[in-house]
Amino acid sequence: MRKAIYPGSFDPVHNGHLDVIERASRLCDCVVVAVANNDQKNALFSVQERVEIVKEATGAMENVEVTSFDGLLVNFASSHGIQAVVRGLRAVSDFEYEFQMALMNRQLHSEIETLFLIPSQENIYLSSRMIKEIARLGGKFEDFVPEATARALARYATRA
Ligand code: PNS
Repeated sequence: MRKAIYPGSFDPVHNGHLDVIERASRLCDCVVVAVANNDQKNALFSVQERVEIVKEATGAMENVEVTSFDGLLVNFASSHGIQAVVRGLRAVSDFEYEFQMALMNRQLHSEIETLFLIPSQENIYLSSRMIKEIARLGGKFEDFVPEATARALARYATRA
């Protein structure tokens, strides 16, 4: 069984992430979308909220599972029988960080490969950070995110 993990902060998940999840789900038997419990990043949504939003947004994709994880990604992956890490690449600016992370993960666990997938053109410029900023400043964000994220962001925008 070809099992891949797509890790990330997903704070919150947007259409670019979903594009990558869909592509991965066509390539692999099972894709585990793993929301990082990353204390260093000041997340807008709790890990539980992020998991729930991704679950709703990926509900129609049968071979996609959603979970959260703590600690090293490669340890989580190997203990769950996962052979590949999927990451989305949007632009050259992503490359340095992604390249470093892929090589670091390979150094930590040589059996786990990193696969880079490129979202379609209409989703390539999306970023969670910018979408949160647009929501905070009262802009229109609905076209960039699935419905579950739009609802969560609307609650946040009225709170802010
Ligand atoms: O969406 P992001 O914030 O770019 O995702 C980064 C993430 C969560 C994939 C990365 O920070 C990660 O894998 N964190 C888990 C801890 C770990 O394994 N760190 C070593 C990476 S070389």
